[in-house]
Amino acid sequence: MTSTASGNGSLNTTDDPAPAVAAPARAAGAAVPVLSARRVAVAFSSGTGLAGGSGTARAVDGVDLDVGSGEIVALVGESGCGKTTLARLLLGLERPTAGRVLFEGTPLRYRSRDLRAFRRRVQLVQQDPAGSLNPRRTVYESVAEGLRVHEGTTADESDRVGRALSRAGLRPPERFLAAYPHELSGGQRQRVVIAGALVLEPEVLVADEPVASLDASVRGEILRLLLELRADLGLSALVATHDLGLAWNIADRVAVMYLGRVVETGPVEEVLAAPAHPYTRALLSVLPDSGSAPVVLAGEPPDPKRVPPGCRFHPRCPVLASGAAEHAGVADRCRTEDPGVLEEAPDASARRSACHWVAAGAGGRIRPPDHGDRKH
Ligand SMILES: Nc1ncnc2c1ncn2[C@@H]1O[C@H](COP(=O)(O)OP(=O)(O)OP(=O)(O)O)[C@@H](O)[C@H]1O
Ligand code: SF4
Ligand SMILES: [Mg+2]
Repeated sequence: MTSTASGNGSLNTTDDPAPAVAAPARAAGAAVPVLSARRVAVAFSSGTGLAGGSGTARAVDGVDLDVGSGEIVALVGESGCGKTTLARLLLGLERPTAGRVLFEGTPLRYRSRDLRAFRRRVQLVQQDPAGSLNPRRTVYESVAEGLRVHEGTTADESDRVGRALSRAGLRPPERFLAAYPHELSGGQRQRVVIAGALVLEPEVLVADEPVASLDASVRGEILRLLLELRADLGLSALVATHDLGLAWNIADRVAVMYLGRVVETGPVEEVLAAPAHPYTRALLSVLPDSGSAPVVLAGEPPDPKRVPPGCRFHPRCPVLASGAAEHAGVADRCRTEDPGVLEEAPDASARRSACHWVAAGAGGRIRPPDHGDRKH
């Protein structure tokens, strides 16, 4: 499958909808985010014209997202909502079919020279350490690889590899240098992967499900490591995860994705303790300690080849199904009017959601779930 060029009018969906919430101009003196997406979209074409769909999957369908300096942003949502595709866009690994990615306010360029410079500063932490480490390479070789790609072999290579391993919590680094992946625990392997990202001293880490393949006992350690890296090095991070507990424990801000769009965003404590958007409410309601009745979403699972008209969540929306949207006078709009792209605001602490019902002021608060103490 390939990315489909934005010249195709039917794909250029992100230019059409009005913003869900108009963002005021960035306040004078406000810090420029280190990494941003503006109305980015990626459409994958199967070229087969599959039955029931156009054959074009709108995997990311118009997203605004900022990662501020020293900020950790969690991108959450069910499987297939577009988290990995958005993460790859922000890493320059995927080229947008519409919209753009900015690094420190400057649009990313896709010439290989520019991408090379960019990738030093924005590093990927892979999901599966067993899969991302070459079993035939020692820890030293795996961590040095990024350095060699960017700088060739340098005189201070072993110092830098040792420093990166120390920062990733593998101390003393000498103990690990000659080890092969199979000689390490899952947590140690993930630390090697993180050291490989740190060795180039990036400003941003983009971590896609960074602890999904780890035992519960090790997850906390890796999350604490990411928090330490932010505290000690000022690193920013985007963490894509389907795990709301992870988002709660690590992030400053959360962006909830549904079918290629961010539908709700704001400070993590506010969004997860008192979600506004019906989709976020449903996601949280099925957690064991939600304190509210589980909301089972009706209708077909979302398919990016068949994005519904109006609000893309409307065929499954419990608020619409229950008559609450009708009562608030927004049901027709739910079915016919796209709530639009949720624009980033200069004030990162702003809560926003792309929902007619919430905009009409009808969305009350539900009882906050008890997530226990956050780790930071
Ligand atoms: N290269 C590709 N070609 C075609 N479709 C793709 C491609 N990559 C992703 N998709 C589709 O785009 C949608 C979003 O996929 P993506 O992997 O970004 O979701 P995700 O939120 O990361 O899911 P998960 O939680 O399972 O990792 C899915 O429907 C997926 O099938
Ligand atoms: S806009 Fe309407 S259909 Fe969409 S989430 Fe809000 S209430 Fe539900
Ligand atoms: Mg994914």
